[in-house]
Amino acid sequence: MRPPHPLCVALIDRLEPRASIIECGIGSGRNRRALHAAGFVVDDFSALAPGRRYDGALSTHHLLHGTQESIATDLERLADALRIEGTLYATFGSTGDERFGRGRKLAPHVFAPTSGDEIGVPHTFWDEADLRSLLDQRFRIESLDEIIVDDIAGRWAHQEQPLHNAVHWFAILLRQ
Ligand SMILES: C[S@@+](CC[C@H](N)C(=O)[O-])C[C@H]1O[C@@H](n2cnc3c(N)ncnc32)[C@H](O)[C@@H]1O
Repeated sequence: MRPPHPLCVALIDRLEPRASIIECGIGSGRNRRALHAAGFVVDDFSALAPGRRYDGALSTHHLLHGTQESIATDLERLADALRIEGTLYATFGSTGDERFGRGRKLAPHVFAPTSGDEIGVPHTFWDEADLRSLLDQRFRIESLDEIIVDDIAGRWAHQEQPLHNAVHWFAILLRQ
């Protein structure tokens, strides 16, 4: 069974069992299994309970896909659904990633692969200044680190072309 993402493990360490969590993009279910095993109550980002304020949110490799505008919209929705001081653990694409600048250019920081497992899927890559100014709008940034994720992103999601020098931002954020 695939291990959960390191940010999922860190979120589990931080919050109390029974905490209410939003998960963005279930994928293989590796994170969902770990969140349930830890006793969290998990709702999917695509089906949030109206009016509910959650204790935490997890987004691994989800806010990577899309455009800068769609990612900003998703962040707004996440902020609205979290309680004040609720925690968001999230990854974002980095301009340090080898895929930045490759494939079909859709916008200055948005590229879609022209081959492989994610052909045609837009990926947005952020430099630190742009990402901080986006996150600062609704969150306090507790930490923001650039991490090589070749072994974390999952060969299962990139079977045709395994990742090489894939770099993500790991953000730990508090809803203001
Ligand atoms: C590789 S999966 C990651 C799943 C899970 N969060 C994990 O880390 O194991 C990528 C996720 O990005 C989300 N996504 C958002 N926009 C997408 C798009 N345009 N194309 C493909 N996936 C997209 C999907 O919901 C999908 O679950």
